[in-house]
Amino acid sequence: MKKIIKRAGLAVGLSLGLGLLVAEALAHGDVTPHAVDTSSLQPVGKEWVAANPYRGNEKAVAVGADGYLHNCAGCHGLNANSGGVAPDLLLLTKDCLGMTSKDQQASCLKDTDEYFKEITLNGKKTSDGRYVMPAYSSVFTQEAVWAVKTYTDARTVEENAKKAK
Ligand code: HEC
Repeated sequence: MKKIIKRAGLAVGLSLGLGLLVAEALAHGDVTPHAVDTSSLQPVGKEWVAANPYRGNEKAVAVGADGYLHNCAGCHGLNANSGGVAPDLLLLTKDCLGMTSKDQQASCLKDTDEYFKEITLNGKKTSDGRYVMPAYSSVFTQEAVWAVKTYTDARTVEENAKKAK
């Protein structure tokens, strides 16, 4: 019975156009959270700030890219290009980018920061309590959360610019 369920899952996964890496990460269950080395970034401190303090910071983009690759890419896709298994993270801030009012945009981005932070720290469970996304609160510092968010935001800007051409 277990085998059948596994096969069915795999077939669905493949039909969604999964990359090899994603299939492998899921098959081996290697989605253990890994700490992110943020020593090259300005520390933010223990007290959580309301909005991403690294927005637009190139160093944070690089640190976040590394953190993303080792923690999130297996499900959310390499380079944050969703393969359809987990939600497309590039949609989170997409609407904020088009806003002409800077104040409105800042508040929109701040809302996405809060949402991103909560989910990253707590993970996601099904209604019967099964984790579909691990919680990162045991290994991610505040700096790690904001660096990864800076990276996905930068990728969103990059993709939007491509489409505008
Ligand atoms: C084991 C697979 C897996 C891993 C690893 C994973 N996620 Fe997720 N993530 C999911 C799934 C599945 C959902 C959707 C859950 C739901 O809707 O109930 C999700 C949802 C999210 C959401 C909400 C997206 C939305 O559009 O509402 C965010 C933000 C997120 N993940 C960020 C991350 C970050 C950041 C990492 C890495 C630090 C990560 N995830 C690692 C599977 C994963």
